[in-house]
Amino acid sequence: MSAKEVWVLLSIYSLIVAAFIVVIVSSASSQSKTTKLEKFELVAGQPLRFHLLGDFGELDPYEKIYNEYPVQVVAQRMVANAYVRPISMIITTGDNRYPKPDSKFDQVIYKYLYHIFNKGGLQSKPWFLVLGNHDCSSNPQYEIDATSLYPMWHLPRKFYNFTIEIDNKYLAAFIFMNGCSLAHDINKVGDLEQYEWLEKILKDLNRNPRVKWILVNIHEPPFSAGIHHGDNEPIKKFILPLLFKYNVDILMTGHEHNMQYFISRYSNDTMPPYEPLPNSTFNCSKEEFVPYNRESFWIKGQGLHEIVQGAGGAELYELCPNKTTEMADLVYGNVQFGFSEVYIDSTMISVDYYAIDEGDPVYSLKIYAK
Ligand SMILES: *[C@@H]1O[C@H](CO)[C@@H](O)[C@H](O)[C@H]1NC(C)=O
Ligand SMILES: *[C@@H]1O[C@H](CO)[C@@H](O)[C@H](O)[C@H]1NC(C)=O
Ligand SMILES: *[C@@H]1O[C@H](CO)[C@@H](O)[C@H](O)[C@H]1NC(C)=O
Ligand SMILES: *[C@@H]1O[C@H](CO)[C@@H](O)[C@H](O)[C@H]1NC(C)=O
Ligand SMILES: *[C@@H]1O[C@H](CO)[C@@H](O)[C@H](O)[C@H]1NC(C)=O
Repeated sequence: MSAKEVWVLLSIYSLIVAAFIVVIVSSASSQSKTTKLEKFELVAGQPLRFHLLGDFGELDPYEKIYNEYPVQVVAQRMVANAYVRPISMIITTGDNRYPKPDSKFDQVIYKYLYHIFNKGGLQSKPWFLVLGNHDCSSNPQYEIDATSLYPMWHLPRKFYNFTIEIDNKYLAAFIFMNGCSLAHDINKVGDLEQYEWLEKILKDLNRNPRVKWILVNIHEPPFSAGIHHGDNEPIKKFILPLLFKYNVDILMTGHEHNMQYFISRYSNDTMPPYEPLPNSTFNCSKEEFVPYNRESFWIKGQGLHEIVQGAGGAELYELCPNKTTEMADLVYGNVQFGFSEVYIDSTMISVDYYAIDEGDPVYSLKIYAK
């Protein structure tokens, strides 16, 4: 063999070895990493997608649509979405049940987890829940105890938190609050223990350079142009300043049985002092909300994005589109049954609102990392 032939053979040999190494390395890195939570191991290190559902705990509302309960139609739509874009979990904004004297809680959970929502890409997915006012007014401990009874149900305490690794580098942090004890007293923080817990976690998250996104979930929205509840003054007065101070990106809420999106364009430094919304400044006009557009784009830090997702199946509430709030803009509102699909990676978060009767998202917002 000439020197040249040896060189060619060696090159071919090293190419083959290199190819092997590439195959081995790539198969190792495609092996899924997981984030261990108390009960679940979520696939981690990748982009994250989940469905956000609220006020769905109603199997017997006033009317059926397409011969089915609205919650069933919403679930079918979630299944259809998850078929195209798989999800790793379902998050609820509360009102997971509406107590009825003749309905046992176990039967309700059983129906949801094992029938209505246990199809296609939703099957066996973990549910992360918060308590809504209806959950609290019955027996919240029941729903907490359900965590050890049902593999998919995750409500370990009245408030809890976790982080998930995204794109192998960064963290998305989730904080699940108990609005019941926070949302009802305008004169003082309703639940000092929870308030201090929230502040400590937010402080820790702000110190951790790996934390890219912070999402907080509380049933009662501080801002709402809904006919039934409107703004929640205690949340606005006591919790909102913490969300601004510690750079929370998204506040997930429900309570008002429709879909809304607010942007509150303040930061810790620009936030005005709390002022109650005067009682007499608006009359609800109930006219159809006409949004400026169907999508919006933001840069992280431009404000707090409030998602109201309470259209999961309970009787819908109309909007008061001309209701003005002091501190936030109603960017979108829709009175149809639906849910949101949330996508998170290290460069962006997107929140798409889906209504059961429309194929494309009815609204889409994207927040880009700086
Ligand atoms: C909740 O947050 C605290 C404070 O940042 C952190 O130490 C703890 O690990 C978090 N809990 C989970 C389950 O990630
Ligand atoms: C937030 O605002 C308060 C009051 O104005 C100020 O004391 C504090 O230093 C600010 N914090 C940050 C993180 O900017
Ligand atoms: C609004 O009305 C309620 C009762 O009707 C009253 O307790 C409350 O003080 C009023 N709030 C303001 C800001 O006027
Ligand atoms: C709201 O409606 C009431 C009763 O119709 C009326 O007295 C009041 O002036 C209205 N307020 C506004 C701000 O339009
Ligand atoms: C909202 O619309 C109603 C009916 O058109 C009107 O009476 C009310 O004054 C409006 N309120 C505001 C704040 O524009």
